[in-house]
Amino acid sequence: MLHFPRVYFTIQPMSRETEFFKSCRRIALMGGTFDPIHYGHLAAAEAVLQAYKPQRVLFVPSAAPPHKKNRAVTDAEHRYRMALLATAAHPAFEVSRLELDRPGPSYTVDTVRELRSLCPPAAEIFFIIGADTAEEIKTWKEPETLLALCEVVAVTRPGFKADALARDFKGRVRVLETPAIDISGTEIRRRAAAGESARYRVPPPVAEYIRDHRLYTNRAGIPAGFDFESAKATLADRLSPDRFRHTLGVIEAAEELSARFGADAGKARIAALLHDCAKEYSNGKKRALCQLWNIPTDDILLAQIDLAHSLLSAESAKRDYGVYDGEILQAIRYHTTGHGAMTALDKAVMLADFIEPYREDYPGLGEIRELSRISMEEALVYGITSVIQNNEDRKRLIHPWSKAALKSLTSKA
Ligand SMILES: [Fe+2]
Ligand SMILES: [Fe+2]
Repeated sequence: MLHFPRVYFTIQPMSRETEFFKSCRRIALMGGTFDPIHYGHLAAAEAVLQAYKPQRVLFVPSAAPPHKKNRAVTDAEHRYRMALLATAAHPAFEVSRLELDRPGPSYTVDTVRELRSLCPPAAEIFFIIGADTAEEIKTWKEPETLLALCEVVAVTRPGFKADALARDFKGRVRVLETPAIDISGTEIRRRAAAGESARYRVPPPVAEYIRDHRLYTNRAGIPAGFDFESAKATLADRLSPDRFRHTLGVIEAAEELSARFGADAGKARIAALLHDCAKEYSNGKKRALCQLWNIPTDDILLAQIDLAHSLLSAESAKRDYGVYDGEILQAIRYHTTGHGAMTALDKAVMLADFIEPYREDYPGLGEIRELSRISMEEALVYGITSVIQNNEDRKRLIHPWSKAALKSLTSKA
């Protein structure tokens, strides 16, 4: 299914993007494919910012990299958006479309020349490059012009022997030591293709973007399907034995109810497997995740944060387990409260949670199980009514979704 990014991107008119250049005094430029942009790039840019104090560091994703003809490079717009997401929160970092909007192959010398033409003649332009690739400048288009147009800064991890650079370029390349961050785009792409995350290698919004758009997965030809057994094994590890046994019970019951009442049993299994995947997070973690994942909360959810475990489990099903099916996610999201327009799948998962075979006995369990043989609606009305009753007795708040569920189920029961 299509997945929309949370941020909407508009292409800025060139005039506004280049407005700053008219009065620019000092600017650093970092070119690259940024496939994807990662912490190595960002740390290098930050080091240059600290060392040479440019007013801005401009990240310039290349359109069709002339040096990487042997590999299919990810669509330029994806790389541009990832660069925006990675740098947006830094006041001095900007992403430029200079190369993206220029037809034909992009050569650094053309980009620097264009930037030079936009800036006052006295402006200082730093061009940032990795020390290990700085040697290659000699093979680039018009290397002499490039060195004349800007200051080349070769960034390197501590201990890099820069003698050859100094000799070959006769001191016209500055060498700047940066923190050793051993991250490569190749490694990130390999990991993504193998289904591993890019966490701690790229900023979180970039990791999300890669995952949501399945950037490197599809290209490697690995089917982006959901692996039930491996997710089950993961949950067997992560959940407490009781919670995992409950989960197995819900899978069993949800499959049975789906078969009986015409819901999609395959989807019910997946929803049941993941319905409580965030249930055992601490309250602090639940609150933090609601904030981090922009999950809309209300006073009742915040006061009884455990209720939010359904919403968090749905979000985690997507983010951590790669489930993108809207019906499955909805069934997980509302399994605790229900809602006003429940599908057969929603009902099967919620009811399975009430009646699963390993449940410890609670008042009304026998009746709900009886009713569930005849009608999911009647069983749910009975179940939700007793939960509401119980919560009222304990002076707990009742979520409006539960009331809406009860109302709509009563009219159909
Ligand atoms: Fe639950
Ligand atoms: Fe549950």
